[in-house]
Order: sequence, then C-alpha cells, then structure tokens
Amino acid sequence: MYTGPGHVLVAIAIALVVASAVSPLCGELIVDMPKFAEPITNVTVPVGREATIVCIVDDLGSYKVAWLRVDTQTILTIHNHVITKNHRIGVSHSDHRTWHIHIKEVRESDKGWYMCQINTDPMKSQLGFLDIVVPPDILDYPTSTDMNVREGNNVSLRCAASGSPAPNITWRKEGSDFIRLERSQQVHNVEGPVLNLTRISRSHMGAYLCIASNGVPPSVSKRIMLVVNFPPMIWIQNQLIGAFIGQSLTLECLSEAHPKSINYWTREAGEIIAHGEKYEPEEFVTEQYKTRMKLTIKSVTAEDYGTYKCLSRNALGDTDGTIKIYQVANNGAHSTTRPKHRYKNRNRTRIRVQSNDIRDSAFLSKDENNELQTHYDDEGEFEEYDSGSQTLIANLPLYTAIIVCAITLVYVHE
Ligand SMILES: *[C@@H]1O[C@H](CO)[C@@H](O)[C@H](O)[C@H]1NC(C)=O
Ligand SMILES: *[C@@H]1O[C@H](CO)[C@@H](O)[C@H](O)[C@H]1NC(C)=O
Ligand SMILES: *[C@@H]1O[C@H](CO)[C@@H](O)[C@H](O)[C@H]1NC(C)=O
Ligand SMILES: *[C@@H]1O[C@H](CO)[C@@H](O)[C@H](O)[C@H]1NC(C)=O
Ligand SMILES: *[C@@H]1O[C@H](CO)[C@@H](O)[C@H](O)[C@H]1NC(C)=O
Repeated sequence: MYTGPGHVLVAIAIALVVASAVSPLCGELIVDMPKFAEPITNVTVPVGREATIVCIVDDLGSYKVAWLRVDTQTILTIHNHVITKNHRIGVSHSDHRTWHIHIKEVRESDKGWYMCQINTDPMKSQLGFLDIVVPPDILDYPTSTDMNVREGNNVSLRCAASGSPAPNITWRKEGSDFIRLERSQQVHNVEGPVLNLTRISRSHMGAYLCIASNGVPPSVSKRIMLVVNFPPMIWIQNQLIGAFIGQSLTLECLSEAHPKSINYWTREAGEIIAHGEKYEPEEFVTEQYKTRMKLTIKSVTAEDYGTYKCLSRNALGDTDGTIKIYQVANNGAHSTTRPKHRYKNRNRTRIRVQSNDIRDSAFLSKDENNELQTHYDDEGEFEEYDSGSQTLIANLPLYTAIIVCAITLVYVHE
C-alpha cells in the first residue's frame, strides 16, 4: 500500500483545525478568573485628611479594576486612569493586586459607599464605607454670650456645637468643683445644651465652660461669664467694742456688693472719716464681690467713744452698719477690744438691706461659702425681722456693758 505525502498533509490539516477549535477553551481553563482576596475594610478619616480605600484582587490578568461612588453612580477611576473631574481623587496599585483609591482633603460629602469593580462578565464588585468624622466646633449662635443678671432671676445658658458624630455638651464652672442648681443641689457638671440656673445668687457668679466633645480630638470649650449684680450688704462681727483711752483699735465691716461698691466710714453726725493722723480707713477685696473694710483709730481718746458707721453704695443701692465703742478701764492684760463674752451664746448680727429695712441673719461662720447658704432660706429671701425689738436687742449689750463698767469702776475704787 502506498502512503504518499498527500495523507500526511491531510492529517496535519485535521490536527490544526481541531487544535484551533479547542485552543480558546484551553486558554480559559488554564488561566484563573480574577477574584477578591478579602473584603474591603471600612475607613474612618477626620475631615481634611487623606482617605485611602484598599481593594485586593487575585489573578487580575488582563482585566481591569475600576472604583465607583455608589450614591452618585459615578465612575471615579479605571485601571491607572482617573475618570472623574474631581482633582482630589487619585489611584495607585502594587503588582496589579492591591488597588488604592486616594481621596485628598476629604469633606463630609465624601462620606458614603465606594465600589471596587472588575470588568469580568458578569462583572464582580465589592463595597467599602468611608466615614468622615468632624471634630466639634461651638456655634456662635445660639450659644450664650456673657451675661449680667440681677440676683434672684433665672438664667439659661445655652451651647450649641457642630461635629460628626454629634457632640455631647458638658458644663463646668471654672475654678470651682460645683455648679449650684435648684434647692442647693451641687453637681460637678451638667450634661446637655442648656444649663438652667434658677434664683441666681452671688455664689453663681463666675465663668462657666461649655465643653463640646465627640471623641474626635480636639474637644473645644467656650467660656461664658455670668455676672450677678446686687445691692450692697454689710456684716459686722463685733458691733460693740470696749476700748480704753490710748489704745489702738480697729473696727471691721464686711461688705458684699456687685458692681463693686464705694465704701466709707462716718461718725454719728454723718461726717465722713478721712485718712489722717488719727484714723486709717482701709479696704481689702477678699473675693470678687467681698470687701473687708477696716477703720483703725490709732490712739483712742475720750471723744472717740460712740457710734461709727461703715457704708457701702453701688448703683443698685446702699446700706450701712453700726459699731459702738464704749470705754473700759485700762487694767492691763484684762482689757479686750473684743467683748467675746457678750456674744457667747448669741452670734447674730444686724444687717440693713435697704436704708429703712432692718433684717437679721444668723451670723456666719468663718467659712465664707457657708455664709451665703446660711444667709438664705429656701426661697433665697431674708427672714423678716421685727425692727422694733431689733433696736432693743441691739442696745441690750450696750446697757449690760455700762452696768459692767459701773460695777468694775466701783470695784476698782474700793
Ligand atoms: C462598614 O460600615 C457600614 C456603615 O457604617 C456598616 O454597615 C458595615 O457593617 C461596616 N462593615 C464592616 C466590615 O465593618
Ligand atoms: C425661676 O424659676 C423658678 C422655678 O423654676 C420659678 O418658680 C420662678 O418663678 C422663676 N423666677 C423668675 C423670676 O422667672
Ligand atoms: C430649662 O428651662 C426651660 C424653661 O425655662 C425648660 O423648657 C427646659 O426644659 C429646662 N431644661 C433643663 C435641662 O432643665
Ligand atoms: C455622649 O454621651 C453618651 C452618654 O454619656 C455616650 O454614650 C456617647 O457615646 C457620647 N457621644 C459622643 C459622640 O461622645
Ligand atoms: C452660731 O450659732 C450656731 C447656732 O447657735 C452655732 O452652731 C455656731 O457654731 C455659731 N457660730 C459661731 C461662730 O459661734
């Protein structure tokens, strides 16, 4: 049998036809389809920074990766090319496997879902969420500005802040551990955009801080000054003072007022006591609204016995307090300028709230903060006091003093 070259050619031709028909199929079976190596990790970025979202694709081959913005259905990048006109967007990759979309100077509007897509048929995609956080900022409106109020009124301090997530507002009082709320309740801080202060007293005066925080640094605060105005009040610890001729003596009144009062001393007839050889009036501001008034008589003479007045005046009113000096014998160490025995069981003093409105308040311990609380009853008002009996009570120690002096003198004579 003759097998000529013709048969060989036919066989090759058939092989080629078969091979050419099968080869595309072989190609697809051999090369793996692209697939995502892992889900996209959500990204959280503070506003203004750069955000990078990462999509990892195995076996990309000749396929291409595109990034899309889901909410707006826009294509941002394809492969190495930025499609969007947004110049803040960029794209990069390493080894055709790790694909980054970069968003510079992120804005709150960039927040949302982003899609990483491969142009297979059907296409493959996965999503990642970009969260933009914004540090808090206190809004000028409706945040309160500094306030001036009359004692006894109510005020609401307000604070509003923007930020993402929505910030929490906390109130503190500067330089104080407590904020005084209704019914003498004291708290370290108050949460919420409004700080209600009812029946304002002078102890509410000060700077309040509204602090906005949302976990995105930095937290911010605003300082709101609360100024509390009230007419002067005077406290006197020793209203009746025994002194002997020739001694040096200091009278003392405590005045509270805001705005700051003008303070001075007078004698019985109303003449103002000026600084001079004989007298030395002084005043010391002890706290924002408290003043210690002192009058030193350098050497007591016979005409110095009698009544002295300390007076305080501001735009809201005026008041005065009275101190009486009586004579005691100079028997050395026995002499005292502070007849403590007279007040042993009676630590009350007179104050005058208005010129003809005499009231009484339990006298206050050394703790000047307690002073105010003792001073007010629940209603923040003074207890009315009968002015008639008050005069009698006020004079009673004087009579006692005179009797004691008389007895002492008689005793000394014998
Ligand atoms: C990504 O963020 C979205 C939106 O906040 C959330 O629904 C989703 O569960 C988050 N995914 C992951 C993996 O944390
Ligand atoms: C202040 O608030 C208290 C309690 O809420 C109320 O009883 C009082 O009338 C208010 N005072 C003024 C001056 O508005
Ligand atoms: C503050 O007072 C106002 C009315 O004066 C009231 O509507 C509001 O609920 C109060 N807020 C708080 C936190 O007590
Ligand atoms: C606000 O305060 C609440 C309660 O203290 C807390 O659960 C929440 O996480 C705070 N929010 C922010 C944004 O800090
Ligand atoms: C004032 O009187 C009260 C009650 O009688 C008493 O508890 C307090 O200790 C007194 N204070 C002074 C400074 O004597």
